[in-house]
Amino acid sequence: MCGIVGYIGSRDIISVLLVALERLEYRGYDSCGIAVSYQGRIFIKKTAGRLFKLKEILNSSPLFSHEEGETLIGIGHTRWATHGKVSDENAHPFLDCEKKLAIVHNGIIENFQELKERLINNGHKFESETDTEVIVHLLEEKIKKDHISEKDFLKALSETLKELKGSFALCLISPLFDFLIGIKKGSPLLCGIGKNEGMIASDILALVGICKKVYIMEDGEICFLKKDKVNFYNENGEKIEKDAQTLDLKVKEVSKGRYRHFMRKEIFEQPKILTENLEKRLYDKEILLGESFHLYPEDIKHITNIVIQACGTSYHAGLIGRDYFERISEIPTTVEIASELISRPFLFNNNTLMIAISQSGETADTLAALRAAKERKIKSLAILNVKRSSMDREADNVIFINAGPEIGVASTKAYTAQIFNLFILALYFALIREKINTEKLNNYLKELKTIPEKIKKTLLLDKIIKRVAKKYYNSPHFVFLGRGINYPSALEGALKLKEISYIHAAGYPAGEMKHGPISVISEETPVICICVKDSTYEKMISNIMEAKARGGRIITIGNENDKRLKEISEDVFYLPATIEFLTPLLVAIPLQLFAYHIACLRGCDVDKPRHLAKSVTVL
Ligand code: M6R
Repeated sequence: MCGIVGYIGSRDIISVLLVALERLEYRGYDSCGIAVSYQGRIFIKKTAGRLFKLKEILNSSPLFSHEEGETLIGIGHTRWATHGKVSDENAHPFLDCEKKLAIVHNGIIENFQELKERLINNGHKFESETDTEVIVHLLEEKIKKDHISEKDFLKALSETLKELKGSFALCLISPLFDFLIGIKKGSPLLCGIGKNEGMIASDILALVGICKKVYIMEDGEICFLKKDKVNFYNENGEKIEKDAQTLDLKVKEVSKGRYRHFMRKEIFEQPKILTENLEKRLYDKEILLGESFHLYPEDIKHITNIVIQACGTSYHAGLIGRDYFERISEIPTTVEIASELISRPFLFNNNTLMIAISQSGETADTLAALRAAKERKIKSLAILNVKRSSMDREADNVIFINAGPEIGVASTKAYTAQIFNLFILALYFALIREKINTEKLNNYLKELKTIPEKIKKTLLLDKIIKRVAKKYYNSPHFVFLGRGINYPSALEGALKLKEISYIHAAGYPAGEMKHGPISVISEETPVICICVKDSTYEKMISNIMEAKARGGRIITIGNENDKRLKEISEDVFYLPATIEFLTPLLVAIPLQLFAYHIACLRGCDVDKPRHLAKSVTVL
């Protein structure tokens, strides 16, 4: 959590930092701040609250005035509070006592309490309750105030790092130096270079439009970034060489364009993303899983079981994946919430395949479970959106879902792209294990190819969904019901609604209702029932009738021309027909749009819902 950024160059530094922070805001947004080093001083502005508040502050009292075109160095931070409440004082950046160092931090310093006590005894004055502030004071103890060579500073830095426990990414500036400093240990950090300028940031999105090349920093690495060159060091202060990669993202891909919200843009991108995935994954009649997938047919034949682990929406995609692996590839599969899995014994064997699913590739719990699997020599495969993420580097195999940057906190396009790729993977496993014949495979693929068009058609429901949302948006509580492959869709529908509208919503397997949850249904309760024409259809109808009999306001998601649904529901969203396995891809669309419209009607901040961050990088 938290987004950090640093810039060195001659552009308008305040604008560069603010644009970068806007792109990083999805990582946390309860407070923010910037600091710039200029003419031997550090100028700083920070505040509790969102970036627009910082912009207002900077408009009414500019940080400093300077000549256009001068090379300046600055840092910025957007916070998701861990240690210390949300307040101006706890907002980053932080300064040392002499105000010669400014720091921004993402991560947690676990031993900050003991360090803080020691530093206070040594006379240091603290201004916040955060763990971060200890770092600048610790470093301050090790450097002479007015002059220090680059070499001695590096030594002081590596000594400081040795005292810090926890995971962190740091960005530092000081008027004592003409470079920007980045340090990575456990939290993501990238260093990018452009033409006579450069940036350091937690996420590649911040570098887009400025940097042409990017270095992915590894744990223990330090970088000194000057405007025209960058030096990398290991944690002992020894110089190391690193290779740069081309930064291929365009500004357009990280902007909202004509859409009011990123979430809406991302919902509407889904047909295009699945079309691109079809092009990438199928060549003639062959399935291609990409160059980071290295499992040999022999490995696949020997898999005894699959354990899928993930969090949130990715976990829901995993539940759908279980159906694919069990019913198509015939491999016993379990699905685990990553944060729970890491506190249980790993009773898996050498022929278990662990599949980690993550949009960001950085979710701390998923990463921890992946690492635990690796320690036990369990083969791993990560299904990811973000290339060069931690899981990309650490998993034995990776399949990318090719969804492009997902910026709205609520995951939408990544979810359908995950389901798509899980389906393709299950088909591939089934082929290798001879559980599917060519005819059946071709039928599945033929239907899969129709999905982008069917999603396009489903998106036309937008206006109807908005109208229906107007009827229900004041309801205090929603129930979502599904069965079989669409039980996870019910969970996902409830998660989407609650995370962006703050309304309590619960998803249940419809058959479980009578074992308790049905008692929550009253005449005020909207009950969203997923009732497509699949093997669970008749049972779902019975469950709908049970909910209706208790006064529930029934909203169904079903198939075109299903007159029965109209009779038993107050509102219906009709979907084109498809095979059972692929229904979750269509069902997701009205669920996403419904949550979106309800949240808009309630005046919620759709892209940045309260208390949340897009990447949850703390355990
Ligand atoms: O990046 P990941 O897929 O690992 O993230 C997992 C969850 O944090 C994420 O899906 C979260 O639940 C979303 N906000 C849901 O919309």
